[in-house]
Amino acid sequence: MALSIPTTSMATTTTTTAAVISSILLLLLFLPTSYCSENYNSAIPGSDIDLLEFPLNLEYLEAEFFLWGSLGYGLDSIAPNLTMGGPPPVGTTKARLDPFTKDVILQFAFQEVGHLSDEGGGSVVVVVVLVVGCGGRIVVAVVVGVVEWQRKWWGGDGGGGVEGWWRRWAIKNTVRGFPRPLLNLSAEAFGNVMNSAFGRALKPAFDPYANELNFLLASYVIPYVGLTGYVGANPKLQSPISKRLVAGLLAVESGQDAVIRGLLYERAREKVTPYEITVAEFTDRISELRNKLGSAGVKDEGLIVPTFQGAEGKLRGNVLAGDQNSVGYDRTPEEILRIIYSSGDEHVPGGFYPKGADGRIAKSHLPSA
Ligand SMILES: *[C@@H]1O[C@H](CO)[C@@H](O)[C@H](O)[C@H]1NC(C)=O
Ligand SMILES: *[C@@H]1O[C@H](CO)[C@@H](O)[C@H](O)[C@H]1NC(C)=O
Repeated sequence: MALSIPTTSMATTTTTTAAVISSILLLLLFLPTSYCSENYNSAIPGSDIDLLEFPLNLEYLEAEFFLWGSLGYGLDSIAPNLTMGGPPPVGTTKARLDPFTKDVILQFAFQEVGHLSDEGGGSVVVVVVLVVGCGGRIVVAVVVGVVEWQRKWWGGDGGGGVEGWWRRWAIKNTVRGFPRPLLNLSAEAFGNVMNSAFGRALKPAFDPYANELNFLLASYVIPYVGLTGYVGANPKLQSPISKRLVAGLLAVESGQDAVIRGLLYERAREKVTPYEITVAEFTDRISELRNKLGSAGVKDEGLIVPTFQGAEGKLRGNVLAGDQNSVGYDRTPEEILRIIYSSGDEHVPGGFYPKGADGRIAKSHLPSA
């Protein structure tokens, strides 16, 4: 904290001292109550930390997939520190995208970088002007303070309070997180998902990077799973900080899913070349596959559904997925692991995560590492 005290008039020492003391007291009001604490997690219960860290697995995957797809490079170039030294993803490549799709995917990419962010710091300039009547003379004291705040300072305030206006919300400035897990984003990994969805090997193999339609279909595979996880995590969270963060992440993940679904819905009846299969059928099959792998009933719906699954049981068009009341579906971390491992078993890693996901929840299901 830098504190300089230019005073225009030196009246009495006592007045100046009083001004300084009251200014310092005012400055202290701007500091989080526990700024001495080194443990920025102290306000967040351990169960919340596990639930907040789990989605990092998906956020890393989305960040890399969208960055590579739109730019041809990933976190190691954009924000190497966010990887925390995790191994580079395998099979990544730039997708052939038209300018519009590239524009949208690049926005998603940087949104994911934001979600992963560990930057919570900043500074607040505090100016305090004191006017003190002093035996007929006016003493003006101007106190300028720059309060540097860092993420580690806010641990103690579990109640939200003033932090809403100065805090930047993201996962790794709330919990410590873990390094980027090994990700397999190869065309073959996506091709395998599509083959499983159709119960046969597509010929030629599905290539997510071949064109914008394929990339959007591959994108259909990802943010939706994350958003069901956020819906599932929310009722289990205890701290208001965690709830605020998850609501904010859910909002943007749902938005991404809505954009992806909206763009695909426009082309729902179009055939995906060179297959004699429509966009809608791709989405229906991917959703069915996720329901099957998750082993927890229907929590996933394609773009064109039987009427009973549409909004109020009245429509076949299904641009957004939701339950009978059009409320978003929820998934547990275990259901999500079964899906993203493509194994249907949270104990058997594979798919996009050859060595498994990280964090306490995912690791508790892996053979002891
Ligand atoms: C990345 O981490 C290194 C080592 O901890 C640090 O020196 C550097 O300032 C960090 N860079 C950014 C952009 O945060
Ligand atoms: C990535 O996935 C493909 C398809 O399953 C597989 O052939 C390849 O060996 C995987 N790579 C790694 C490093 O796991």
